[in-house]
Amino acid sequence: MSEQLVTVVVRKRDEQGEGVVVLELADPQGRPLPAFAAGAHVDLHLQPGLVRQYSLCGDPASSASYRLGVLKDPASRGGSLAVHAQLQPGCEIHISRPRNHFPLAPEARRSILIGGGIGITPMLAMAYALTAADSDFELHYCGRSRARSAFLDELAQVPFARRVQTHFDDEAPAQQLDLVRVLGQPQPGTHVYVCGPAGFMDWVIGQAIAQGYADDHVHREYFRLAVDASGGSFEVQAARSGKTVQVAEGQSIVEALSAAGIKIDISCEQGVCGTCLCDVLEGLPDHRDVYLTDEEKQANDQILVCCSRAKSQKLVLDI
Ligand code: FES
Repeated sequence: MSEQLVTVVVRKRDEQGEGVVVLELADPQGRPLPAFAAGAHVDLHLQPGLVRQYSLCGDPASSASYRLGVLKDPASRGGSLAVHAQLQPGCEIHISRPRNHFPLAPEARRSILIGGGIGITPMLAMAYALTAADSDFELHYCGRSRARSAFLDELAQVPFARRVQTHFDDEAPAQQLDLVRVLGQPQPGTHVYVCGPAGFMDWVIGQAIAQGYADDHVHREYFRLAVDASGGSFEVQAARSGKTVQVAEGQSIVEALSAAGIKIDISCEQGVCGTCLCDVLEGLPDHRDVYLTDEEKQANDQILVCCSRAKSQKLVLDI
């Protein structure tokens, strides 16, 4: 499962809002970078064993550079702190090729983009792409305050500025996001996209569903999840090696396998990116990720072993 990495150099670094660093990454020789579509992310390989995903927030029409916005997260498990400390102009870093689990629906006739805090990043790329495609959209950017929010200068100047509405917690009630009104009655061809803190996303998704949007018209990108490792212990058999491990309460399947010398590629460790996907040969997974669709979860033939667990006493995996 090892992949070919891309080496890039930090060409520009800009501090914006409170605790947001905006990075421009380019090929060291100035060659074009692999193309990406709006909603894509790259993995930053920050240190051995420290790999984190960040959405690309530049214009997908440009392959000269990638742009990322990274919030210094006090609850960081090392990723955002390493980005802020390490990635200075001129520094080289290995990244994955762009991957996209949050694409725009090509059939959409109208798009409602809603970004909370640093969740604005994929929405920026989407707004550039929808503008280039001459597609109807509106972009809502919610934040605690204007002073804390990144990208505001840019959003005031972009060609799609008239489609952008900002909503700040500490400003007048009239400018706050009236989600019921913004979502309105679902119209054929209208798709909703949301990215932000989990509580914010739950609010937007729940309201959209309550107002009658089909689940597959509400697109979501989680950037951090609390992994729930509770539940009893169970057994995992790695079919190819024939090894069987016991996964204790509070321990992930990946950790248990690693202790037995079975290495699984991981990246987000939060059930978001799909890197650790394994085929299930026997047993019933207890899915705790947000990567698999509901249908894929119901099939019970795949599992994300960084976060999911087992409902059965034993799982047999094709590893
Ligand atoms: S490592 Fe990202 S889903 Fe498991």
